[in-house]
Amino acid sequence: GRVLLAYSGGLDTSCILAWLIEEGYEVYAFMADVGQEEDYAAAEKKALKVGAKKFFLADLKREFVTELIYPAVQANCIYENVYLLGTSLARPVIARGMIEVADKEGCDYVSHGCTGKGNDQVRFELAFYGLKPDIKVIAPWRIPEFYNRFAGRQALLQYAAEQNIPVQQTVAKPWSTDENLFHISYEAGILEDPNVTPPNDMWKLTTAPEDAPTSPERIILEFQNGLPTKVIVPEQQKEYTDAVEIFSALNTLARKHGIGRIDIVENRFIGVKSRGCYESPGATILRVAHMDLEGLTLDRNVRALRDQFTTIALSRILYNGHYFSPEREFVTSSIPSSQRTVNGIVRLKLYKGNTIVEGRESSEGLYDAAQSSMDELGGFEPTDTTGFISIESIRLKKWAQSKAAKGQS
Ligand code: ARG
Ligand code: SIN
Repeated sequence: GRVLLAYSGGLDTSCILAWLIEEGYEVYAFMADVGQEEDYAAAEKKALKVGAKKFFLADLKREFVTELIYPAVQANCIYENVYLLGTSLARPVIARGMIEVADKEGCDYVSHGCTGKGNDQVRFELAFYGLKPDIKVIAPWRIPEFYNRFAGRQALLQYAAEQNIPVQQTVAKPWSTDENLFHISYEAGILEDPNVTPPNDMWKLTTAPEDAPTSPERIILEFQNGLPTKVIVPEQQKEYTDAVEIFSALNTLARKHGIGRIDIVENRFIGVKSRGCYESPGATILRVAHMDLEGLTLDRNVRALRDQFTTIALSRILYNGHYFSPEREFVTSSIPSSQRTVNGIVRLKLYKGNTIVEGRESSEGLYDAAQSSMDELGGFEPTDTTGFISIESIRLKKWAQSKAAKGQS
């Protein structure tokens, strides 16, 4: 049979490629460009040298930004209050890119190098089945003949030598990474001890806050329907309006000012805890700005319902790999109507790891300075509020009386 392998150019997937050929498959290699720093030409050369019959590179950056990242920004998605979901967001577009090639090229099988303990195997495979129910998946790290034979890096290195697989001369980093336009993740290796401080030279996408410029930089973000439509950098006299360019510009600004590093212990879908470090530079700025503008422009009850339903449900769906599902379609359909009024600008100051809001403006008219003012009457009388409090207190008084009657405090 013919297999399409999600290829990274690294040791694991190169050995998987050679092993699949040894097992009698014809292997096509697939790489997705989701904005990671990568030598694609070198990876292609390597895949073909190891024995791939064809190599495919899919540029998925735009669909990654507009179809995955954007709704997550609009819904303020976040996992366990800290993780902005960068890896989870990229998986659906990568899986879809693979299925498209598999369909066109007549591959009955797809394969990947995810371990048997992680989230990514679940995300990839649920996405494959949600897109193409009859696809067959080969997950070598869950096949005993593979994982018993290749237990440990030494066995992989030895196999690579036997198979003439070029191995990078540089010593492997003592952690594993996953990178895209939105973020980079660091897990495993020395990070498995949750009390080990990540070494300074691990962080790749941002300057350390203490090394960031000592003078702040000001930017203006414009939103329409809860989506960023313009980034203005007055000091550089620059403006960005294209979706991918906006994201890249925010990444560059955040990198310079040390914004977007986190370090957490999270609960994986399969139930194990895992320590992860992440840099989500531009995404962190966007989140701060978007949430701030919602304060000015979003109705209170819409906001509360969105926070309780859309934000929580979509974050979990993304994390757990349920993107191609009826519940994801249902949940994302609530986003546009929640964001209709989220129009305006936010002024930000970037400074040593911080994204500081300095002001915001909108013509939506939900905020009424006279109405909110402590200095003037605006639209209603102070005595009206006496009635409001009196009605609101009815049940609280009853509750307090009942407790007192029973002698409870
Ligand atoms: N823990 C994060 C998540 O589940 C990051 C996963 C990183 N994946 C990887 N293949 N290195 O989304
Ligand atoms: C892996 O286990 O392959 C990477 C980490 C994860 O998927 O959670």
